[in-house]
Amino acid sequence: MCRCSACNIKNKSTAYLINMTIDTEKVTGAGLGLRRGLLEEWHELEEKQPELLPDFIEVTPDNWMGLGGRYAREMRHFTDRYPTLSHGLSLSLGGPDPLDTKFIDRLGRFMDEYNITSFSEHLSYCTDGGHLYDLLPLPFTGEAVEHVSSRIRAVQEQLGRRIAIENVSFYAAPEGEMSEIDFLNAVLSEADCDLLLDVNNVYVNSHNHAYDAHDFISAVPTERISWLHMAGHLQEAPDLIIDTHGDSVVDPVWDLLQYTYSCHGVQPTLLERDFNLPPMHELIDELAIIRQYQQGVSSDAA
Ligand SMILES: [Fe+2]
Repeated sequence: MCRCSACNIKNKSTAYLINMTIDTEKVTGAGLGLRRGLLEEWHELEEKQPELLPDFIEVTPDNWMGLGGRYAREMRHFTDRYPTLSHGLSLSLGGPDPLDTKFIDRLGRFMDEYNITSFSEHLSYCTDGGHLYDLLPLPFTGEAVEHVSSRIRAVQEQLGRRIAIENVSFYAAPEGEMSEIDFLNAVLSEADCDLLLDVNNVYVNSHNHAYDAHDFISAVPTERISWLHMAGHLQEAPDLIIDTHGDSVVDPVWDLLQYTYSCHGVQPTLLERDFNLPPMHELIDELAIIRQYQQGVSSDAA
């Protein structure tokens, strides 16, 4: 039984209106993050078992922008064949340094060149007078809501597109005035942007910081969700989970995905795997599980 109240939540959107292109065409199904280490096996699968291929892909612009030669050809190959979303690493939405407007210009051109429909970034910061090479959590304060929301609005304005922000995993809880979910919802409303909901990150944070993952999921505004992330993690100690993207998805996170669908309907769901890349068929097996959950919810609703 779903405890969700979010299906009917009408998020209080600000009167923030800018003249931007809004991508209404949503991807569907089960997606897989494009990684260079998967390219060879991915091409083999396209030849031998195309029916198993992902429904969409996600690329990290930071890792592909400006490349020529083989990798530019690969980018063209994949973006010509799959609906493509993007997920950035280095924009530092919540950081203290000025936004990198040159990077945002390059990003817009990259998205246009490869017909990439959406851009997402982490609700975090990764710069402070230079790159910190980590995605650090923002303090859950009203001041931080204002700060990061104004920067998200600036990015949307410059790109001429809505963007999605992702809830991040964190370990040292920042000082704050509100809960993580209240902070996330305040930013979504104030910035008038969309949400990339990482289900594994909700699970990891709920375990490490002792809150109810179901309550968090059900409090997310359905109409803001663009797509979901699923990933594996490492149980480092009984009271500590590390978000590694280096292992298979575990059963409690699959259960949380099912709960998410029951609250918010079936959403496009992408499997992230960045380390310990297994044989491609193992990732395809996980995509099949995502599709089973999606079909299960669809048939329940029919
Ligand atoms: Fe993620």
